[in-house]
Amino acid sequence: MRIQIIFLLVACFLIGSCEAFLKQKNFTAKTVVPSIESLRNQEWIEIFRDDFDGDKLETRYWTARNKMTHTDWEQQLYIEEDAYVENGNLVLRTRFNPQIYQPTQRLYNYTSGWVDSSEKFNYMFGYTEARIKIPKVVLDDPIWPAFWSIGEGTYWPNGGEIDTMEMSATWNPDFLPHIQGTYHWGKDGDQCHACGTEFPYYLDFSEYHTYTTVWNSTQIDWYVDGILYRTNVNGTIYEKMSSPVDLPHYNQFLIINDALWGEPIPNPQDYPKYMYIDYVTVLQTRETYESQRQQQSSIA
Ligand SMILES: *[C@@H]1O[C@H](CO)[C@@H](O)[C@H](O)[C@H]1NC(C)=O
Ligand SMILES: *[C@@H]1O[C@H](CO)[C@@H](O)[C@H](O)[C@H]1NC(C)=O
Ligand SMILES: *[C@@H]1O[C@H](CO)[C@@H](O)[C@H](O)[C@H]1NC(C)=O
Ligand SMILES: *[C@@H]1O[C@H](CO)[C@@H](O)[C@H](O)[C@H]1NC(C)=O
Repeated sequence: MRIQIIFLLVACFLIGSCEAFLKQKNFTAKTVVPSIESLRNQEWIEIFRDDFDGDKLETRYWTARNKMTHTDWEQQLYIEEDAYVENGNLVLRTRFNPQIYQPTQRLYNYTSGWVDSSEKFNYMFGYTEARIKIPKVVLDDPIWPAFWSIGEGTYWPNGGEIDTMEMSATWNPDFLPHIQGTYHWGKDGDQCHACGTEFPYYLDFSEYHTYTTVWNSTQIDWYVDGILYRTNVNGTIYEKMSSPVDLPHYNQFLIINDALWGEPIPNPQDYPKYMYIDYVTVLQTRETYESQRQQQSSIA
């Protein structure tokens, strides 16, 4: 009983947040056609969209983190000046810009940009897509751009981590840039160590590409430019996994950032680098959208 009440409160909070977002932001949820052909036979409602068409970051949707580190071993300090809107894009700049991080007195030679929608927009289940041009990458480059989401109001990785896109050169045997889709869950996220799946086809990284996940209660699918390259069905043990996939049942918020992997130390001549994000959109099937609205009103 107690658990049920707690569950209802949590569900109310979580499910309520999307609707609250729509009201607060004056964002009109509308029916749209997803760009992926095989999904066109369902009705989809767009519940979030940013085309970055203004002259500054829309702070009702996003927070640009300032003087934030992420993990100790990464080489960048996030500062808000390195996340800005220009020419219809969100731009994340990674540059040689030495700074002392006061809390630890550590010198960070590089600063970069991180934006997230925590406490502003989060959702459970949907079609999540961004059109992104990743930074120019040199052989063995530590640059590590990502478009991902984690659970709101819970500890990592309890709420799951869906990496719709992450790119690295340095962690690949050939030290060349490869895109991968990744999912983390479980006690320490270690149920899925190194279990990202690489997009297996050639991509011209001087161009924009669309990166998409489609997440429901039983499955997540990963796409690049509409090409499906990874599927995780709940309860399945895939290669390199130590336990069955347990899909997130928490609302997730979006993160876009451009990190520097712990090694090698970059060459300042290779920087600054720029990651360009043309749009971010989140759609839900009408069925999911309506049932979450209903649940919300029956709880309220
Ligand atoms: C939302 O739109 C309505 C109608 O255009 C307007 O009256 C209201 O002030 C807007 N609210 C916000 C928060 O922008
Ligand atoms: C920071 O940059 C300076 C100047 O290029 C270099 O001497 C130093 O080793 C760098 N430190 C780190 C931690 O990369
Ligand atoms: C989740 O998506 C997959 C792939 O589109 C579909 O086969 C499955 O039926 C969906 N599950 C639910 C519960 O809607
Ligand atoms: C997903 O799989 C996990 C692990 O097998 C299981 O514990 C969980 O109940 C499943 N969730 C759903 C919604 O079926």
